[in-house]
Amino acid sequence: MKRVGFLTSGGDCQSLNATMRGVAKALYEKIEDIEIIGILEGYKGLMYGNYRKLKPSDFSGILTEGGTIIGTSRQPFKLMREPDANGMDKVRAMKNNYEKWKLDCLVILGGNGTHKTANLLREEGLNVITLPKTIDNDLYGTDMTFGFQSAVNIASTAIDQIHTTAASHGRVFIVEIMGHDVGWLTLHAGIASGADIVLIPEIPFNIDSVIGAINKRNEQGKNFTILAVAEGAKSTEDAKLSKKDFKKKLKERKYPSISYELGAEIEERTGQEVRIAVPGHTQRGGSPCPYDRVISSRLGAAAGEFIMNEQYGIMVGIKNNEIIPVPLSEVAGKLKMVDPDSQIIKEAKSLGICFGD
Ligand code: F6P
Repeated sequence: MKRVGFLTSGGDCQSLNATMRGVAKALYEKIEDIEIIGILEGYKGLMYGNYRKLKPSDFSGILTEGGTIIGTSRQPFKLMREPDANGMDKVRAMKNNYEKWKLDCLVILGGNGTHKTANLLREEGLNVITLPKTIDNDLYGTDMTFGFQSAVNIASTAIDQIHTTAASHGRVFIVEIMGHDVGWLTLHAGIASGADIVLIPEIPFNIDSVIGAINKRNEQGKNFTILAVAEGAKSTEDAKLSKKDFKKKLKERKYPSISYELGAEIEERTGQEVRIAVPGHTQRGGSPCPYDRVISSRLGAAAGEFIMNEQYGIMVGIKNNEIIPVPLSEVAGKLKMVDPDSQIIKEAKSLGICFGD
């Protein structure tokens, strides 16, 4: 008899259910006496003892369903060692419930913060296997995270839709793409939909260079310009600020986000009308794209295999299209960022995309 707990944590994405289905199918297929419990709302459920037993039928029909059937929440890693409002030791509570429920292992689906806590639980002696979820694709140790390609599809469609209206009105459009710390989503959506300017956190932008690119297009008779701008894009000046000073600046900023601040400056300096479009959380919604369904199913099946072999303390990742186990200790606390000198950036520049550098 094996008892396995499933937990989804952090921001949701389109392919969480598809991945859980993959793990469950593999477990039901391979292990005769298996019980799966769904821990509700991420680490919160593990702390406060909220779960429900899952049956094979719970995993039917969810391959194409976005969101997560067991709910999720954000529980910041930096607060894990601090007691909750009632003085409860969160880590001890999580360990107690794991033991009380007689779990053989925890299957944790999540992104960066989630992996830090998963690694902490591993250090505390729990059997943990993680699966790399995030639309940001910024998890260290894996070429691809599930959710990313689905989000690229949505963000690209958002930019595609802007093209005709931008051209009809001769406007500058800024489409703000999710990603506070990394620019994979903005970069891929920008290339996929022919954005003229792509601004990502890894390449601080110079406003003169951005204005120069817009003016150049106008001189070439192209009366509109489309910018794909990551939520976390920063000017070269802001990039020089300490974390603390930057946070202070953000608090005092009169605009809701970088796109609005940038838009105001572009309008003032070019005299051209600027509009902002923010697809926001639509990038995390809807059905997973077929690519995600495939990698979710593969990752899930492999996780089932690792559980059977009792190989714990790992993230199931993808390298060169092979599914591999990556030690959690190597993944936790590291970000996979866009390298400004990488091939993809050079190729994008060859296509004439301006990065503002
Ligand atoms: O990590 C995924 C992500 O969608 C980021 O791209 C985005 O910046 C953030 O989550 C938004 O978080 P929330 O759902 O808490 O608003």
